[in-house]
Amino acid sequence: MNSAIKVSRLCKSVTTQEGELSILNGIELDVKPGQSVAITGPSGSGKSTLLGLLAALDTPTDGEIWLDGAALSGLDEEQKAALRKDKLSFIFQSFMLVDTLTALENVMLPAELAGVKDARQKAEAMLERVGLSHRLGHLPKQLSGGEQQRVAIARAFISEPKVLFADEPTGNLDPVNGTKVADMLFEMNRESDTTLVLVTHDLTLASRCSRQLIMEDGHLSESDVGVEESASRIEQPLKEAQA
Ligand SMILES: Nc1ncnc2c1ncn2[C@@H]1O[C@H](COP(=O)(O)OP(=O)(O)OP(=O)(O)O)[C@@H](O)[C@H]1O
Ligand SMILES: [Mg+2]
Repeated sequence: MNSAIKVSRLCKSVTTQEGELSILNGIELDVKPGQSVAITGPSGSGKSTLLGLLAALDTPTDGEIWLDGAALSGLDEEQKAALRKDKLSFIFQSFMLVDTLTALENVMLPAELAGVKDARQKAEAMLERVGLSHRLGHLPKQLSGGEQQRVAIARAFISEPKVLFADEPTGNLDPVNGTKVADMLFEMNRESDTTLVLVTHDLTLASRCSRQLIMEDGHLSESDVGVEESASRIEQPLKEAQA
């Protein structure tokens, strides 16, 4: 079977004032179409960096990524932008809404760029699904953190992507809205066979995915012990360090 995402020997380092900082060290990954993958792991371990590379938003220092069989290193910026528009969606940890556009306009934007005719109706329906019908005309700064997150989720869903990357999609939501958003993610995964790659600290969300991976210090491994046990392995030294 073809891979939705394939990664080989992926490395990312950056130059800082203190010298070269190695963030990702030889990541290997193979995700099949329609799989749902949770990536957990401590803060600063490289989860968001990996997601940015997979979504062609950032370039690796070494190694290769193939999306739907196409090597990202062989694409120029224009081709990467086209790939993102046609096949990928990204829910950012920091939402990345356009400040000057209303909730409705933010959600409509990708649909309009993709030439969808009934973009407004689709955007309204999507915002209704995330419980924001009463906030269509609000600018991001007039929305709470959880409301902004739900706008970002509606925006990611509207283009019906083949692969959806989400960085802490339920991080700012109360349990009721968190469950609602998780239900939407898995509905899309089931109904449209959308491949999901989720970074999350939410163990309930992680356990709903078909695979659980753990990032530790720039190394990615398959979790064979279950997310809860690995989380306690990660949290234990943290608690000890805080004590
Ligand atoms: N452009 C950059 N320049 C310097 N350091 C960076 C850069 N990007 C990331 N880092 C560092 O790399 C490490 C990994 O960052 P990353 O954002 O991927 O972590 P994370 O696993 O997503 O953490 P969190 O759970 O807190 O979101 C962090 O220590 C961060 O400070
Ligand atoms: Mg992060």
